Amino acid sequence: MVAGGAGEGARERGGMSKLSSPWRSDFPIFGTKMHGQKLVFLDSGASAQKPCAVIEAMDAVLSRGYANIHRGLYEISQNLTAAFEDVRAKVARFIGAGSANEIIFTRNSTEGINLVAQSWGRSFLKEGDEIILTAMEHHANIVPWQLLAGPVGCTIKVIPITADGRLDLPAFEKLLSKKTKLIGVVHVSNALGTINPVETIIKTARAFNPAIKVLVDGSQSAVHAAIDVRAMDADFFVFTGHKLYGPTGIGVLYGKAEILDSMPPYQGGGDMIERVRFSGTTYKEPPARFEAGTPAIVEAIGLGAAVDYVVDIGMEAIAVHERKLLEYATAEIRAVPGITLYGPEDTAHKAGILSFTMEGAHPSDVGMVLDPCGVAVRTGHHCCMPLMEALGVDATVRASFGLYTNSADIDALIAGLYKVRSLFGQG
Ligand SMILES: Cc1ncc(COP(=O)(O)O)c(C=O)c1O
Repeated sequence: MVAGGAGEGARERGGMSKLSSPWRSDFPIFGTKMHGQKLVFLDSGASAQKPCAVIEAMDAVLSRGYANIHRGLYEISQNLTAAFEDVRAKVARFIGAGSANEIIFTRNSTEGINLVAQSWGRSFLKEGDEIILTAMEHHANIVPWQLLAGPVGCTIKVIPITADGRLDLPAFEKLLSKKTKLIGVVHVSNALGTINPVETIIKTARAFNPAIKVLVDGSQSAVHAAIDVRAMDADFFVFTGHKLYGPTGIGVLYGKAEILDSMPPYQGGGDMIERVRFSGTTYKEPPARFEAGTPAIVEAIGLGAAVDYVVDIGMEAIAVHERKLLEYATAEIRAVPGITLYGPEDTAHKAGILSFTMEGAHPSDVGMVLDPCGVAVRTGHHCCMPLMEALGVDATVRASFGLYTNSADIDALIAGLYKVRSLFGQG
């Protein structure tokens, strides 16, 4: 395989045809090199590369149309305010929300979850109440609940995972109690790729007690497939712009209108008030109530361009491409001796993420050997320390795909893994 070079060996062994992304040339970064090698970017799960459409949309605002929004009576401010609010409506359509007023711009997914914990949680949870999370949550969907649970005196319960990295649903049903107030569940695990049956979880929770709220962390799912928050019946849904080919500094919190209406502000400042007096202040309706201060204006425009970009391609086309890649990559990596692959065996329950360890080499050794080969992967705990503990490892290597990933990227990864084997005396 190593001798065969990227692409060739894979086709000979697997008999599968090469998979090329028709959209790769939209991403200027792939014209650059890393350590003088062709860039093989397999860390989209951490943050995705940006297409020209996003870069140009942000550049256009900064070069020709920048001003603060929601304040100026002059043309460029009014135009940019309209463009900013258009993005809100676009995002609402993108995830199937009923109204643009259900879309709150945040800095990222993390801030969206903290907002729910501190605003909704502080208002509606009391001592003895229970929050159910899963063993595969990102720290962003654990720590905000711990920050709330400590002072309020509520308890966090955890849905365990099965041996093949899926949620143990019978165990989940046993965790439900009349004290359960909120369930926080990741839609697609960033560390395993598992696609969780959030619809089933929500239906089960509703059947048990319709008052239970469910927050879905869509940081990895909004990128890989079409989302419909109303069909899913999520109370809250968060995602982050930089994983969806958009910029950093912008994320989205969706909340059902009636729930947002019942929530107090998260932060105070400009743009979220109706009337300020030293004797007391009144607040705007959602979403403005939750967007204190000058927002990430240019980043929101970038997010809008990213949404347009993926919608034009079609989320279904992206999902099909990533599924084929996943099937190809899974077969290829399984053929490498000494690999342990984590997450569901069946690729039907998995997004474009491969999480693995290698016999005889720590994940950080693997990452360091791959780097000079031009191969960028993530190594470590992936902000999922409790999951790593459940898997019995301290770290894994993670290769994650984007819509621009080709099978040649996988071949380069596999070639790099054979290099690791030979360097660590396994090959
Ligand atoms: C599943 C999941 N949730 C939450 C986050 C946090 O995203 P952000 O750092 O953009 O808030 C990530 C990022 O890796 C993630 O993968």
